[in-house]
Order: sequence, then C-alpha cells, then structure tokens
Amino acid sequence: MPGGPQGRWRRVLLIATVPMLCAFIYYSYRSNYRPASLPSTSPSSYHNNVSLPDDHSMTTVIKALYEPILHPVAAANFTDDDSEVYQLSGEPRFKEKLGKKVLVLDIDSRPLTGAGQLMNEELKWKGMRPLSAGMLSHYTYAMIHGYDYKFVRAPDYEDRWGTWVKVPMMKEALKTHDYVLFMDSDVMFHHPHVPLEWLMNYWNMTKDTLVMLSIDPDEPQNYDSRGNRYLNTGFIIAQQSKRTQEMYKTWAECPSDVRYPGCSRWKLEMFHEQAAFGNYIRYDYDRPEDIRVLPCVEANGAPEAINRGGCKGTFVRHYWVDKGLVSKALGDQVMQYFLPRLHQLYHQQASEHIVDAKGFRLEGADLIELTKEEKAAIAKGAGKNQKDEGF
Ligand SMILES: *[C@@H]1O[C@H](CO)[C@@H](O)[C@H](O)[C@H]1NC(C)=O
Ligand SMILES: *[C@@H]1O[C@H](CO)[C@@H](O)[C@H](O)[C@H]1NC(C)=O
Ligand SMILES: *[C@@H]1O[C@H](CO)[C@@H](O)[C@H](O)[C@H]1NC(C)=O
Repeated sequence: MPGGPQGRWRRVLLIATVPMLCAFIYYSYRSNYRPASLPSTSPSSYHNNVSLPDDHSMTTVIKALYEPILHPVAAANFTDDDSEVYQLSGEPRFKEKLGKKVLVLDIDSRPLTGAGQLMNEELKWKGMRPLSAGMLSHYTYAMIHGYDYKFVRAPDYEDRWGTWVKVPMMKEALKTHDYVLFMDSDVMFHHPHVPLEWLMNYWNMTKDTLVMLSIDPDEPQNYDSRGNRYLNTGFIIAQQSKRTQEMYKTWAECPSDVRYPGCSRWKLEMFHEQAAFGNYIRYDYDRPEDIRVLPCVEANGAPEAINRGGCKGTFVRHYWVDKGLVSKALGDQVMQYFLPRLHQLYHQQASEHIVDAKGFRLEGADLIELTKEEKAAIAKGAGKNQKDEGF
C-alpha cells in the first residue's frame, strides 16, 4: 500500500535520518555548552531543569518524530493502519497549510491542579489522569502541524453544568481564528500525522459550512425529542463566519427560554449543551451546508466501542466507552511513530550489535564451529526446538 504509513516509511528512510542527526547533534551540543546569558547554575540543577527559557530540545524531538511522515494536506487518499483506503470525493478545497489560522482549543473551568492533572507542577506517566493525556495530545497535534493552541480557563456559569462553557468560549475563539478545532479531553486524533486540512477536505468543509460534528451511536439515550439522533459536541470543527457567530449566540442563549421555551431544562440535565444543540439549534441552522454531520465510524467512538453502532473512531477517537483508555491512546500516538524509527535505527547499527553465532553448535557449555556437512544437516531440521515468539 504505497500511500500508507508503511510504504511511506520506506521512502523516508533516508530523509528521516537528517532530523534525528540534527537532534543528536543538538543534544550533544546542549549538554556541553551553557550560554553566557544564563546565571551560573550548578551543573546538577542545570541537568534537572527542563524549563530553561531557550531550551527548544523537546520541540525539536517532536518535529523530528512527525515531520518526515506528515500526510500531505491535499493528498487524494489516506491508508489507515488496517490498510483501508479513504479517498477524497472531489477536488480538495484546502491545498496549502493553514498554520496559525487554525486554533486547537481546550476549554475547562476546573482548576485541574490535583495529582496527575495537567495544571499540577508535576506530571508523571504513572498516575496521570486521562484528561491530562487528552489535552497533551491536542497540544502535540497543534505543534506537529504548526497550528495555534490555547487552553482557556473558562469562568463558570452560575446556573449551568460545566460543559456549557465551551459554547461562549468557542464563540470568542471564532473572532480571532478562521478555524477552531475543539475536542473534549477524552477525544483525540488516532493519526496525528494527518493534518486538519486533509480531514476538512475529506469531510468536505465548504465555504458555507458552519460546524462539523459527528453523529452519536444508534442507542435510545441518543435521540432528541423529534426522534433524531444527537450530534456529539465533544468534537467540533467550526469555521468563522457571521452566521457561525449568530449560531453560537443562539446556542449560548438557548436556556433563557426566550427563543426556545423549555431549553432551560438542559442547563443541568444530561446532555446539557449537546441536548440544546440537538433539540433546537440544528433545526434553525438547517441550510444544507450549515452543519456537516460526520459518520460515527470515522469521528466518534473507539475500537473498544465497535459494538456500539460500529463507532470505532477511525480518525477521531472518543473514549466515552472507557476514559481509562485515553492515556494508552497518548502512548499509541507516540509509539506508532517512534517504533518504526527505533526499529530502523536498530537495523542501521546492526553490524555493531547483531552477533551471528549460527555457524556454531552447542555442546554442554561449549560453542563448537560447524563443519560444512553439519551446516547442511541443520538447515534441514531448522527451527525444531523453536516456537513463534515462544518461551
Ligand atoms: C529550574 O530553574 C528555575 C529558574 O532558573 C530555578 O528556580 C529552579 O530551582 C530550577 N530547578 C531545578 C530542579 O534545578
Ligand atoms: C493515492 O493517491 C496517490 C497520489 O495521487 C496515488 O498515486 C495512489 O495510487 C492512490 N492510492 C490509492 C490506493 O488510491
Ligand atoms: C461538497 O459539498 C458540496 C455541496 O454539497 C458538493 O457540491 C461538492 O461536490 C462536495 N465536494 C466533495 C469533494 O465531496
């Protein structure tokens, strides 16, 4: 599958070594050199300190890991890790990177300063809370593609459930950025090397689209009062326009009951702002291009939720099925890219560490070099005392 991650890897073998080498050189350089402007810290505190103002080594590592394999913005197709091919259905609208016109937005009104939480001074892999993993994933995604990233500490509504704050906060963000990508903290991209521009091409974000969101699984609790399935507000791609501003205003004001009598019910009742959007807003913003509904299989759920209406999260993983999976997903997000590179390095340096002792036979504690005849005989009975990865 030439377009797929595996095929691409082969092609970038050479290119890939360049940033790695840069990173290596950078590290060697950093560890031996202390810029004159720094106060004379003792060497030990210098090495423990990862927040030196001019230390960009982590950014370099992230760039080195993802840049060689970035999926082109206007690619005609994408092959996933199950070798399934996803084709654009027409001419792509986005052919250039959008960079800082895109905002990746985290919004939370909670302090998140407890153990294992993002705003705590210390965060370790062990004991990390799922939402920290989600938000760090969003931050990484923005860094990989050069988008803007912001975490907004939102004020609380006096009388509404916490998730409502995403509505006015997204509305504000849409005044400064052309595209706002909002994800709940249990939502992340499974293939972070695929840019948002490509997904907007694939899902057909037109000039008139206000928002894109995924439909929820076909289950009784996910239906609105008119018998239509809810759209999940945990993942939203919004496009700036006058009409988008209007829609968000209408949405945020829904619980006042002025335009939509009865909407105040959703201030505190499940599914809060999602129910308000599902029961009212989408029926008023119903031009064909206003709201692009994404398939649950591609933009909702996770493989662990495949029996919930097939929502396996091909592109967007939403871990409502088990929030405990979010940290593992962050691990995957790094390891699917790190592993091929590590493997490549292993083979590049094979001559230094792979020792071929197959020309010997074992007898008691001794290695005895084989004769030609013995070698031929052994080739016949190869593997007889070996199991596939067995012990
Ligand atoms: C890290 O650097 C800051 C600011 O220079 C300093 O106050 C702090 O003690 C350092 N921490 C460690 C562990 O060295
Ligand atoms: C994907 O697109 C590339 C470039 O346009 C093309 O060469 C390749 O054949 C396509 N792959 C599939 C499976 O459609
Ligand atoms: C996108 O949607 C518009 C309007 O529905 C349609 O005319 C166009 O063909 C679609 N483009 C693609 C690439 O699917």
